Amino acid sequence: MESIQTTKQRFGIIGNSIGLNRALEKAIQVAPTDISVLVTGESGVGKESVPKIIHSLSHRKHNKYIAVNCGAIPEGTIDSELFGHEKGAFTGATNTRQGYFEVADGGTIFLDEVGELPLTTQVRLLRVLENGEFIKVGSSKVQKTNVRIVAATNVNMFEAIKKERFREDLYYRLSTIEINLPPLRERKEDIHILFRKFASDFALKYKMPTVKLSDDAVSMLQNYRFNGNIRQLRNVAEQVSVLEKERNVSALTLNEYLPTGGSNLPAVINKTKSESDFSSEREILYKVLFDMKADLNDLKKLTMELMKNGGSKDIQKDNEGLIEKIYGSENESNDFDIKGQEANKLEVLSIPENASTEIISPDKYHFAEEIQEEETLSLHDKELELIKKSLERHSGKRKLAAEELGISERTLYRKIKQFDL
Ligand SMILES: Nc1ncnc2c1ncn2[C@@H]1O[C@H](COP(=O)(O)OP(=O)(O)OP(=O)(O)O)[C@@H](O)[C@H]1O
Ligand SMILES: [Mg+2]
Repeated sequence: MESIQTTKQRFGIIGNSIGLNRALEKAIQVAPTDISVLVTGESGVGKESVPKIIHSLSHRKHNKYIAVNCGAIPEGTIDSELFGHEKGAFTGATNTRQGYFEVADGGTIFLDEVGELPLTTQVRLLRVLENGEFIKVGSSKVQKTNVRIVAATNVNMFEAIKKERFREDLYYRLSTIEINLPPLRERKEDIHILFRKFASDFALKYKMPTVKLSDDAVSMLQNYRFNGNIRQLRNVAEQVSVLEKERNVSALTLNEYLPTGGSNLPAVINKTKSESDFSSEREILYKVLFDMKADLNDLKKLTMELMKNGGSKDIQKDNEGLIEKIYGSENESNDFDIKGQEANKLEVLSIPENASTEIISPDKYHFAEEIQEEETLSLHDKELELIKKSLERHSGKRKLAAEELGISERTLYRKIKQFDL
């Protein structure tokens, strides 16, 4: 049986916590069987590696592996995508088409976001799971297929069952074995190594020295709740790597990259809804945009002053703070001018390359591996939301909110008036 360590190297999985190792061990054990597996865990915990591991360690590894994002396929076409259709089954069905279950015969299908499947499709899926039978849309001929199913979800399935959005019998059929990936906040010992790996990757990508965390920054990171889990940690590592000129990062600096003020309060476990995972990720992005907007306003102000009064020394003196904020001090600005000669500063963790995994990505199936689009909010709305949240966090104390938002108290006051908050 393949060892956990080898699997980690093959699939680029970092971490050594008990929770992660247990999940991987289960995946390795169950792989050679044909048992259905349900992978559970919050958004961003790394669920997508599990079905790949299971497929490539199974006797099906030379056959197809198809990953389907159930949440991304419109309800009207999902049956046809999964089970195929006959010519003339519906308007536009000009040809007979094979569905994923026919194409993947002998292989594995990964049903991501399985909780999103419409109830009618759930009935068809149950039938395939029970006896390998399915019927194309618009056909009456029963066909047989031999597919192993691995499903994943980040929603609470019991709640979905209670609300009659998911069939209980299907849930039990899918989850013969359940593999749970614990949230990052429950595998604190993995946080720093993951950060170092991501920081090292981004240093290579952006050709900069690797950022390093001070001890207090490490402990801040380890006590952060990471609602968006590893995906969020990677985003933080990328932002810090790109934006920080000072490559030794203190807790104070890191705090700016952790939404909700990087609270060191103990994490609240048992958050049922996963929606907030995405909102916190979005928050990071909007915070960056918001900061950029504030910088732009400062820049505009400075340019106006210069236009009105020319580039006199007085102006430079009066606006020292502003100039430093926008352009940084001379020494600092040199830090970014790093070319090849600084390459020895790069810290590269020796993570072996992934071995090839015999995974076939079905390009022609355009829903496979697709990422769901987030709804877009205008910057104006987001700015408003950010201000509101910051004020809430600081119990209406404008000074603290302004500091967090990186704007002056006066600007914040103006915005409060403008938005009628
Ligand atoms: N242990 C790990 N080591 C390295 N990278 C990881 C690890 N776990 C997750 N990642 C990375 O984190 C990102 C998120 O993982 P993944 O897409 O598997 O999340 P998920 O659990 O499927 O989330 P969602 O429910 O939102 O789809 C991916 O880029 C993945 O490569
Ligand atoms: Mg996923």
